[in-house]
Amino acid sequence: MTDTTLPTGDLPDDHDESYRVAAARSATLEQRISDAPSTFRVLTGDRPTGTLHLGHYFGTLANRVRLQRTGMDVLLVIADYQVITDRDSVGDLRGNVLGIVADYLAAGIDPARATIFTHSAVPALNQLMLPFLSLVTDAELRRNPTIKAEADAAAGRALSGLLLTYPVHQAADILFARANLVPVGRDQLPHLEATRTIARRFNDRYAGGQEVFPVPDALLTQAPLLLGTDGVKMSKSRGNAIELRASADDTARLLKRAKTDTDRTITYDPVARPEVANLLLIAALCTGQDPQHLAATIGTGGAAQLKATVTEAVNEHLRPLRRRRAELTSDPGLLLHVLHEGNARAKALADATLDSVRTLMAMTY
Ligand code: TRP
Repeated sequence: MTDTTLPTGDLPDDHDESYRVAAARSATLEQRISDAPSTFRVLTGDRPTGTLHLGHYFGTLANRVRLQRTGMDVLLVIADYQVITDRDSVGDLRGNVLGIVADYLAAGIDPARATIFTHSAVPALNQLMLPFLSLVTDAELRRNPTIKAEADAAAGRALSGLLLTYPVHQAADILFARANLVPVGRDQLPHLEATRTIARRFNDRYAGGQEVFPVPDALLTQAPLLLGTDGVKMSKSRGNAIELRASADDTARLLKRAKTDTDRTITYDPVARPEVANLLLIAALCTGQDPQHLAATIGTGGAAQLKATVTEAVNEHLRPLRRRRAELTSDPGLLLHVLHEGNARAKALADATLDSVRTLMAMTY
């Protein structure tokens, strides 16, 4: 999930194989994307537990904007029902949802082309979960490695029924739109596998094998995993994240506190010096330079100069995005309007899908 995503290395070994398959497949998909972008419909999304940060930006947002620019249909779910999978309080849900809409638009998602919507506004999507739940076994749900890892992270707290079943809900997110391309990080691969299984089983059981639901592909994002300023995976809940909406001063303050090491000579060595390497990587991503080259230009300037370089790079790179974001949030009606339009589009699609599902299931009265 967005905030609690596990470092990719934490997934059990038996999923390395499915990762390798998906990675190889992603390369083929990239070729097809450049040959025939209009044959794809993308669906992906975020859990609104906070606003988006630099990790999201380089990890997924930039990629979504790239896909949108090829001309393909892009749907983005702000997964509000996923917020309550593992917590009792939704926090400032409305603020987080609108904040994410602002992040999307500021990053370059075009509201006239893309469909941005929330679960809770699309009843037919949620209703699809019922037939879909009938297509999986409880053992399959319990075997899902991401769910297992999340259950372990809950440290003995009881697992909600929604946590156990949210991969099926996520299948409904994807299948209601008949999306065939799902850009995700590695931790989401088990959910994509579940979605593929559900699509196949539905097609076999209710449609004589016809592709009522296309079997979607994961598109693995190539982007590197960014660490936060404390050297652990960037995540809002750890307070180590550079938020897209942060001011230049907040960014400078956060980066000043970033963990480094005592070696004054800056080198790019992700294994021996992960924190320093991560800061170099952030600066490199922001400036389009090579991290080794950046390290060489800082040379013996030490952590202080490294931090100054990263701060400047991040603030420069995000300046236009932040300016657009500030404009967007200054008009309170605008973000809601974008969301209402997206919700209406998603609702129409979901209603049509649910209608054909009901017909195939003989539930027409
Ligand atoms: N679980 C995803 C995450 O935390 C967010 C998400 C919800 C999603 N629905 C989706 C991603 C459908 C891809 C497709 O990152």
